[in-house]
This record gives sequence, structure tokens and C-alpha cells, in this order.
Amino acid sequence: MSNRTLIRGGLVVTAAEETHADVLVEDGRVAALATSGSAAAEAWTAERVIDASGMYVIPGGVDGHTHMEMPFGGTYASDTFETGTRAAAWGGTTTIVDFVVQSVGHGLREGLDAWHAKAEGNCAIDYGFHMILSDVTEDTLKEMDLLVGEGVTSFKLFMAYPGVFYSDDGRILRAMQRAGENGGLTMVHAENGIAIDVLVEQALAAGRTDPRHHGEVRKALLEAEATHRAIQLARVAGDVPLYIVHVSAQEALAEIAAARDLGLPVHGETCPQYLFLSTDNLAEPDFEGAKYVCSTPLRPQEHQAALWRGLRTDDLQVVSTDHCPFCFSGQKELGRGDFSKIPNGMPGVEHRMDLLHQAVVDGHISRRRWIDLACAAPARMFGLYPRKGTIAPGADADLVIYDPHAEQVLSAATHHMNVDYSAYEGKRVTGRVRTVLSRGVPVLEDREYVGRAGHGVYVPRGLSTYGS
Ligand code: URP
Ligand code: ZN
Ligand code: ZN
Ligand code: ZN
Repeated sequence: MSNRTLIRGGLVVTAAEETHADVLVEDGRVAALATSGSAAAEAWTAERVIDASGMYVIPGGVDGHTHMEMPFGGTYASDTFETGTRAAAWGGTTTIVDFVVQSVGHGLREGLDAWHAKAEGNCAIDYGFHMILSDVTEDTLKEMDLLVGEGVTSFKLFMAYPGVFYSDDGRILRAMQRAGENGGLTMVHAENGIAIDVLVEQALAAGRTDPRHHGEVRKALLEAEATHRAIQLARVAGDVPLYIVHVSAQEALAEIAAARDLGLPVHGETCPQYLFLSTDNLAEPDFEGAKYVCSTPLRPQEHQAALWRGLRTDDLQVVSTDHCPFCFSGQKELGRGDFSKIPNGMPGVEHRMDLLHQAVVDGHISRRRWIDLACAAPARMFGLYPRKGTIAPGADADLVIYDPHAEQVLSAATHHMNVDYSAYEGKRVTGRVRTVLSRGVPVLEDREYVGRAGHGVYVPRGLSTYGS
């Protein structure tokens, strides 16, 4: 029995084009598009018809960087796969790629099994996994090949966090060489963690313990230096594709831009917090700045213009959230009197699509660029395209009916993430998700949640097709 849904009269926006078209969904996939009002579209019938007049019809968002239930600093990120994917759906995201953690002394398989166990049966939307390499050994390198075969096709290495996730340059180079052989994408957290730890120690010894010092010790120059080093290592490894996560400093962006000008396969991601927030937030009194502690850190305001420019010029290709929420009460508070003990990370998975739409309203990016940065580019980058990230025959019917005129005020009182504060408390944005389909199944209907934990499935990813 076929199961058809018809979305009538909306403006279909993809990264490639905008058309007034009706979208026919059949058995969880996009079956066809036809110009609204055309004879072809008028002839269609379906069990369910959604009136999208006055609305955008956009691909479901692909958030390529989340940390549900991630262990960090003696605690766990406060969103589970259940609460985090539900919140993502409320915000128009229909796929996440979450980071599995390899613990030091343990294998990749063990980490991956643990993440599958946490996610399976609990997700409202589809999900894939990246792998964090914390312990690059001969065994790890061999396991990388196996993971690529299971759809875990990207590996994150940390130049930061000595003693936790940190890898030295030799280990990073070896992992990059292996990725060059198995086709995986190397992702790097580019901050010079060894130098940062010296500055942390000096700051604490001098009594500089407030959250704002987190931003001061994690210097832009140390992000740029690490970015430069990661790029050179990737070149030495044989010009392997490289993806720099959560770029926040304009000096780091300049390194990426210079590499891309040489034609190197170097890619960059930034996140809404770096585009909309700044060190002013980190300096909020009464320890409130802890809400904004993440790494790379928020930067002074002037970096924002450079990041917006990078998004327009394609020196940055992807906007992800790095969603890694910790409650202010009981979690962020672990770092009262010592900023280095504040768990690093911020909530955001629910607000990425809306904040980037606000950027369209504000004139920073075009409507199609919004969809490229939030849907199509991450789907291609992480081997999900064209199943995810676009609206085309054969693609999964992960579709969002988006009201571009609705006004909303972001707040912890109304968000759906399992965290007791909003990083955007009181911020007014224009645009809001109305209805969300995941593989043709309604998850949000006229802003009523109708989703189900367990609807979302693991999506084995292919190799990156970005740039090919
Ligand atoms: O502060 C952050 N970004 N926490 C999550 C871990 C990471 O480095 O992405
Ligand atoms: Zn083990
Ligand atoms: Zn990171
Ligand atoms: Zn992260």
C-alpha cells in the first residue's frame, strides 16, 4: 500500500534553487515535484494534503556536530538522544551526526557499541556517528577501516585537552595517513592545548578564576596556530581532506582561506554561538558567563563579521551547533572559583535553523545559502547526500514547512532542550518551523509534537562527496 502526502503551494527552497512547487511524498521519499497549479500537480491526490501557501518548504536540517550524553569534566551533557533529537526536530533538524568517544586504552568498537546502545530506539529523527580518536594505536588505525565500512566515515582528532582527548602531532599524522587510505574525513579540533594549559595554570595562580578568563587563555593565535599545523599535517599526509570544526577566530579562518586559495581540500565549520554571541557574554557577572563556556571559545565581536564573510565566500562551508548542553545548576557550577572546571559546551541544536534564517532576514546570507550551510553542505560533507539535505525525487522525505514571517522569542521557558538556560534568552527571531516530516512521517504538525522515540534510525554514511 502506498502512503502519499502532498505538500501544496509552498516556496521550495534548496541550496540550488527556489521554485513554487508542490511536493509529492510516497513511502517516505520525495516522489516528484511539479510547479504549483500546473496540470501535473493538480492531477495528484494523496491521503494527506498539507497546505504550505505562504510558507517555505525546505529540506530538514542536518546538524553535523552534536554531543548527546557526552561525558565531559566529570559529568554528562544533559540532553539524551531522546530529549536532544526531539528538541532538534522542534527546530527543523531531521538528522544529527553525533560524536562517539573512544576512551583512552579502549577500542573504537567499544565506543561505537556504547553509542549505538544509547541512541537505538530513542531518537525522534535519523542519526549517524563520527568517531573521536583519543588513543591512536596500531589497533585503532586498523579499526578505522572497519568503521568506514559501517558508515562511520569521519574521525575527529583533538589538538586540545591534553590528558583527555588530546593527540600529539605524530598520532594525528598517522590517523590522517590512514584516512587517506580508507577514504575517511579527518576532523580536527584546532587549538594548541599544551600552550593553553600553561596559560590556564598561570591565570589560576594569579587568581583569575572567572569564566571570562576561559576566553582569554584560549587565545585566537593558538587557534590559528593549530589550524595552520593541522593543514600542514594534512598536506604531508598526502593532501587528505580536512575539516576544521567550530572555527571561532578570524585568524584561524584566514589559515583556512589561504589553504583553499591554494586549492587544498580544507573545509571549515562554524556555529551559531560564534556568529551571535561574544566575549561580552563570557563576561556576564555572577558566574553567568559560565553558560557560554565552550571550546573554541567565544571571541570579541569583531570576529563575527569575518565569520559571516567566510560563510558568504565559501571559506566556511557548514554551520553546525556543537550542541553539548550542561545545566547551569549543578553542572556549569562545578567551575565556580576555577573556570577550567566548567564543563565545556553550549546548547543549540534546537535553534540553528531559526538563527540562520534570522541571518537571511538580517542580510548576512541568502536564502539558498541558508539551506546550503544547514542542510546540503553538511549532507555532502558527511556522505549523506542526496538522501539527506535536499528535496529531489528519491531523497528521504525529511521536509520542513517553515513560516518565514512568524515571530518568536527564544527562551529556556519555551525551548525543548533538556537544559535549564538558553544561550539566547530573550532573543527575538523572525521565522519558525511549523511542520516537520521525517521520511514522510509527521514529527511536528502545526507546532504540535507528534513524533516518537524510536522513529529515528541509524544512517550508515558514505564517504564525503563534498567537492566531488
Ligand atoms: O566546548 C565544546 N565544544 N564541547 C564539546 C567538545 C568539543 O570540543 O567539540
Ligand atoms: Zn575497553
Ligand atoms: Zn571540539
Ligand atoms: Zn564538539
